[in-house]
Amino acid sequence: MNCKVDEDVAAEALRRIEELALCSDSLPSITRLFETPAMNRARETLQEWFLDAGLEISVDQVGNLIGRWPESSGGAGTLAIGSHFDTVPDAGKYDGVAGIVLGLAAVTQIRREGLTLPFNLEIVAFAEEEGTRFQSGYLGSTCYGGIFDAALLDRMDEQEITLRDVLTARGTDCDRWIKEQQPRKDLLAYLEAHIEQGPVLEHKAMHLGVVTGIAGQSRAIITFTGMAGHAGTTPMQMRRDALTGAAAFITEAETLATRTEGLVATVGTLSILPGATNVIPGHASLTLDLRHGKDEVRHKAIRHLKEFSEDLAHNRNLDLEWRGTHDSPAVRCDASIQTELCAIVRDLQGEAPELASGAGHDAVPLSAVAPVGMLFIRCKDGLSHHPGEYASPEDLRTGITALTEFLRRRAV
Ligand code: HGY
Ligand code: MN
Ligand code: MN
Repeated sequence: MNCKVDEDVAAEALRRIEELALCSDSLPSITRLFETPAMNRARETLQEWFLDAGLEISVDQVGNLIGRWPESSGGAGTLAIGSHFDTVPDAGKYDGVAGIVLGLAAVTQIRREGLTLPFNLEIVAFAEEEGTRFQSGYLGSTCYGGIFDAALLDRMDEQEITLRDVLTARGTDCDRWIKEQQPRKDLLAYLEAHIEQGPVLEHKAMHLGVVTGIAGQSRAIITFTGMAGHAGTTPMQMRRDALTGAAAFITEAETLATRTEGLVATVGTLSILPGATNVIPGHASLTLDLRHGKDEVRHKAIRHLKEFSEDLAHNRNLDLEWRGTHDSPAVRCDASIQTELCAIVRDLQGEAPELASGAGHDAVPLSAVAPVGMLFIRCKDGLSHHPGEYASPEDLRTGITALTEFLRRRAV
């Protein structure tokens, strides 16, 4: 197989990942949340690179950056390659952006070789995938797919700014957008390269893997309300302690996930009021993230935890609010794309590990409007959502080669 990718194309991709890491609102750490100054700087930087690659650029209603290489006859469908460029707080430098930069490198290589594609190609940088600011992920890819959930427009961030206000401020006429929105019918496929964010490829000593499917996710904000009181004068049996109630719930979530094969449960945030050493907490609000490869297992776990929280609140004389904020199904990657990616990866490294993804990706919502395929790139210690996240130049180069080969096989 012609595995050539020009060294300067690969080197520029590696450099670009480093440059994007500087688009952060928390330097020297990396934080690039939806519709923040860091996000705008990153989009401007990406826009220059998309133009350098000869792509026609546009920015859509939620701020996705789309670079289009139109097919000459104009009638063909569209292959989309991309990932997200928002991050979690104190993030690594590869989650999301590696998929955008590698896709751009692949299209740069193909165009340099004078090849043309019998379809439109779009490189897409999704403006929001993590769900950090509005507690619901995939805002970028659902907009791009024409399947954005209008109910999310009323979601508020921590400053009680609604998503509608944020989008209106960027010039989006939300009512018109939602009224005219149609699910994309032209997408031939969506392809994403992403760091594995897990240990399998490192354990197998492989550069790349092919994704078989992506776990389903449920997220919720769960609030226990009791009564604040004096830490020294309130007898234990007379307390309505919201935090000890939340702690019992958190322990149950961990126990349930530990004893259920393939289930993962995470309480990533906990806020307590009034928050003083000598005051019994009257308010405790936590976020739950629950995932499994089978939707019925995940839904059963959610039902169990809901019942547990209701019993717990009753027994401890607490008020309970359970607010579901995100629910995305487990999805399978397209079998024929998977087969082709396996053939390419096998040519490159001798074997093609196939693995499921516990992490969510933009391929999840886009699987509703297109066949999806994903390539995983080994990452050190499987670490992600952490400043220690690392993918080696050799593994990233191999990822560019695989994406380039996927396009080369379609070139005319
Ligand atoms: O949370 C996830 O799985 C992804 O990083 N959004
Ligand atoms: Mn992530
Ligand atoms: Mn990601």
